[in-house]
Amino acid sequence: MSDKIKDRIIGAGPARIDGPLKLTGAAPYTADHHLPNMAYAYGVFSTVASGRIEHIDLDAARRMPGVIDIFHHDHFPDLYRTPSSFAEENMVDETRLPFEDDQVYYPGQFVALVVAETFAQARAAAYRVHVDYSADAHAVNFEQAQARDAKPQPAAGSGHSRGEPDRAFAAAAHAIDFTYTTPMETHNPMEMHASVAHWDNGSLLLYEASQGVVFARNVMAKVFGLPPERVEVRSAFIGSGFGSKLWIWPHAVAAAAAAREIARPVQLMVPRSAMFTTTGNRPPTRQRLRIGTDDNGKLVSLSHDSVNTTSMVDTYVETTGSCTKSLYACPDLRVSHATLGANHGTPTSMRAPGAAPGLFALESAMDEMAETLDMDPLAFRKANYTDRDESKDLPFSSIHLLEAYDRGAERFGWEKRDPKIGSMRDGDETLGWGMAACNWEAMKMHCDARVSLRADGTAYASCATQDIGTGTYTIVAQAVASITGLPLDRIEVELGDSSYPSGPVSGGSWATATTLPAIAQAARAAIDALKGYAVADGGAFAGASAEELTFSNGEIHDDSDHAVPYVEVLRQQKLANADGEAHTPAASDDEYSFRSFGAHFVEVRWDPGISRLRVSRVVSAIDVGQIINEKTAKNQVEGAVAMGIGMALFEATEYDERSGLPVNNNYAEYLVPVHADQPDDVDVILLDHPDYAFNEFGARGIGEIGITGMAAAVANAVYHATGKRIRDLPIRLEQLMSA
Ligand code: MOS
Repeated sequence: MSDKIKDRIIGAGPARIDGPLKLTGAAPYTADHHLPNMAYAYGVFSTVASGRIEHIDLDAARRMPGVIDIFHHDHFPDLYRTPSSFAEENMVDETRLPFEDDQVYYPGQFVALVVAETFAQARAAAYRVHVDYSADAHAVNFEQAQARDAKPQPAAGSGHSRGEPDRAFAAAAHAIDFTYTTPMETHNPMEMHASVAHWDNGSLLLYEASQGVVFARNVMAKVFGLPPERVEVRSAFIGSGFGSKLWIWPHAVAAAAAAREIARPVQLMVPRSAMFTTTGNRPPTRQRLRIGTDDNGKLVSLSHDSVNTTSMVDTYVETTGSCTKSLYACPDLRVSHATLGANHGTPTSMRAPGAAPGLFALESAMDEMAETLDMDPLAFRKANYTDRDESKDLPFSSIHLLEAYDRGAERFGWEKRDPKIGSMRDGDETLGWGMAACNWEAMKMHCDARVSLRADGTAYASCATQDIGTGTYTIVAQAVASITGLPLDRIEVELGDSSYPSGPVSGGSWATATTLPAIAQAARAAIDALKGYAVADGGAFAGASAEELTFSNGEIHDDSDHAVPYVEVLRQQKLANADGEAHTPAASDDEYSFRSFGAHFVEVRWDPGISRLRVSRVVSAIDVGQIINEKTAKNQVEGAVAMGIGMALFEATEYDERSGLPVNNNYAEYLVPVHADQPDDVDVILLDHPDYAFNEFGARGIGEIGITGMAAAVANAVYHATGKRIRDLPIRLEQLMSA
């Protein structure tokens, strides 16, 4: 069955069906769960970047009111590490268990955990735990890591090479060679990381702020040596994650172990400051771009060699060349990645991992190359367009990048751009116009789902994926509606529980493409079950053949147009539901390369008199296949544009080189764009060309692509306004002031 689905409900823009729950505060987030007899845990976090714990003095903390127990490396149960494997669905980025030994590998590492009757008591006592360290020399940023360990470790298997890029570069008619850097960034979801652990008769129930309850269940089962059936992880509502909540971090293990030790439920919330150190980061990168062209502006060589820092306990590779290898036609090309160990927490995926910093470098370099060639930056990109993925030697399943360029340019007014630096003015302000391509892989995992048509006239759908704030509840309901014809307000959706039919991690922009085909298949199976009941003895169509029946708008029809509501079919057989289940496979990638495309056009306004820079206008044209929900899809791009402005102008997680401690691990000093930084006008054009080679909905996913290319588009606009080419993010005002 692979009916192509495009009807009045798919592509419409209904509001989130869980909106009222969120607006009224009734939606339970992890830390809203306060179980009977629950205790509260608060961490003690390392104040050195590297070293060893010499002594922990607990006397003062133990005397504090309400303290139940204090865990640390000499007082913690023996647990097991999990193998970390995406394929085995037990991925972690930090394999080291909390309190495993007395070593400190990064500042902000858990060194103790106080459990008390209340949150306030646990926190107050945690402040009284005194830890003596012997500190070693540390390297907390790129420069220190390079000084200590000058040889980056190549990340085997993450790169790509074709032709002879070095030889082609040396022979190129025109060439550039520049290095771009991006800083560490922190995800900063609004909702705190939190765990609520409850053991019952040897089984663990864990409420966890998680983008992946199935993976979380599997990891916790490995860590506690249990069969997965004895662990249940719930994450019904998430205040975003941006990748920081993809995998289990040490705090969840610590909370579950503490709960088992004291034989009471335990809630642990990770304070904001520790969310800068112990729940992942986007690592800093150094990216060298070498581009060569012929006299006509055709790429002849492209090399993208990148290094990122990782932690001292695990290797995380920021795959900045993931788009470079296939975005443009180029016969001789290399992308390579390498890592350097540093004393910061283990990095992890952050929205469009690899692509976001990678396209800052590539799309800045493309702008520089266009200028070298005296070509319009958009024309230069169009001249190097390809509809084949040359890294896989496969055609793209569906590509409308040229249309994205043209429609974005037209809406923006690109043809009115005067290429002369600083030439476009409006009063005291200089306008800068820049653009960049955006790009992201489309992925589809395996997925199970259940749909029931119920005797009360409603439908029910469940899947162990999550709604991380993006609208998954709503689009699942739309998928059920598209098959059954039921209105959205008669469709109940349950997500975010590992006991539901297995569903995907909410990451990689694959949740929509993965979940919806399974939901549709389960809905069709429920209808098939219903038809079986209709033709059985005592049914409205007893004796007929099920194949002759059709289902639409909640009714079963035969070819003589006799119609019976499905509720009546169930009533006749005294049945509660007609149930359907689905098990759908991952997408196979041997015929096509599945990727999404787009382009950002950005206007900045630079007032040199008062050194004021603003992004004033953005047009983003996005080609992600069929749009399922116009409202939530636009929301994703608008949010990603804001996050891209943050990446371009504000965000950087800084460490003090001397103390090795984070400097701006709070919302006051880690700058993110606020409303005043948001352009007056963010115009999102959704191209909406279904990609049926990918799945029956034709949808590729939209969560991440909007941030890719955005920082480069801003940097290119800043260059056009000021003549200052900023290759090191974030762009700071002091870099733009004249000497
Ligand atoms: Mo996304 S970085 O895969 O949550």
